Amino acid sequence: MQRTIQGFSRLSKEEKINWLAQNYLQHNPQATNILKQYWNEDQQLQQLHDEFIENTLSNFYLPLGIAPNFLINGQYYAIPMVIEESSVVAAASKAAKYWMQRGGFTAKVISTEKIGHVHFECSLPGTELAQFFNTIKAQLFADTASLTEKMEARGGGILNIELKDKTETLPQYFQLHCTFETLDAMGANFINSCLEQFATTLQREFEKAYPGQKLLVIMSILSNYLPDCRVVATVSCPVEDLSDDPAIDPHVFAKKFVEAVKIAQIEPYRAVTHNKGVMNGIDAVIIATGNDFRAIEAGVHAYAAKDGTYKSLTQAKIEDDIYHFSIDVPLALGTVGGLTKLHPLVKVNLEMLGNPDARELMKIVAVAGLAQNFAAIKSLTTTGIQKGHMKMHLMNILNQFNATPTEKTTAVAYFKKNKVSHSAVENLLQDLRK
Ligand code: MEV
Repeated sequence: MQRTIQGFSRLSKEEKINWLAQNYLQHNPQATNILKQYWNEDQQLQQLHDEFIENTLSNFYLPLGIAPNFLINGQYYAIPMVIEESSVVAAASKAAKYWMQRGGFTAKVISTEKIGHVHFECSLPGTELAQFFNTIKAQLFADTASLTEKMEARGGGILNIELKDKTETLPQYFQLHCTFETLDAMGANFINSCLEQFATTLQREFEKAYPGQKLLVIMSILSNYLPDCRVVATVSCPVEDLSDDPAIDPHVFAKKFVEAVKIAQIEPYRAVTHNKGVMNGIDAVIIATGNDFRAIEAGVHAYAAKDGTYKSLTQAKIEDDIYHFSIDVPLALGTVGGLTKLHPLVKVNLEMLGNPDARELMKIVAVAGLAQNFAAIKSLTTTGIQKGHMKMHLMNILNQFNATPTEKTTAVAYFKKNKVSHSAVENLLQDLRK
């Protein structure tokens, strides 16, 4: 057995699979076939996917579902969602329909400002460095002219460059804190290229001005913490109109709902799960539209902790018998660049959304998060989460037991009236198979 290898990336896909089959998957004779089973017959399409990353072996499918009936700022959307969790799309669809009948969602972009930094060490006192920075600021802009030309022609570019003295928190640590407008691009490449040029200019000009003194560039990189690149989405209606079930008193429901959100405001254990539910909606749309869900996740959770405690991203209140529910969330998204024009399904998904610009996509994604959270809190404070969740999970359990199509039909009918659980499904199948 050979557990390590040199030059793995230079092997063909077939050779890579063979090497893994011999050295890591030797106990699973099916593994090779399973990996190849997911290859696409269309060679060109497969090659496109192979080339997204290094060392591709196969494709990893996730379902692409649709949550229709989203009414946002007076316009209808069918929202594509890529997610493996059984109940998420169903919950989003239910929330969309519920709010469509109550006036729909309103969403507003607060700003699309992006941020990046050149992090560096310098032995000069902060005041002297600040004077030097003022003398080179114009040069920093000038040296990036070729990088920014196209972005500026479209109305974006570098917004500002500031020097920040961080020496109180880390000796000799300074930053160039830079802000950008990248329009419909998420902008990572544009921002990082500008930052690297700033670093080169900074170093060069410093060495000219202060021979013998030390300035050490540590790194140049965008920040995924973008507290201003935010969207606010809201729903509201008279408390009276909240109930969609005669068994639920709308006033009790509204009170419990608001209390549930308040708990997530003050109790981090609950806030994390609460926000996880929000991210069920957000991530699913982010992936479907070819955006970077890790960047969004990192930024969203940092924002949720901005006051020093981790808190809910959503707020709820009742004022003058009107129920209000809203989300305030940072979302740096792109509708051009990255995978958006490369992945054929991403293109279709964006088309389904009417080819939104980045600001419109930010609104749609925020609404998906709010809808998901609404659905979760509604279930949690009324029926409990398991009823709907297990209903949607039924197919997965049946598949785990290799249920036949007939068994599935019988089980679906049976569980319309009975509570779904893993053991209840197992018992039913045992009875059917007797
Ligand atoms: C499950 O994926 C998400 C929930 O736990 C969210 C919540 O508790 O609010 C249902």
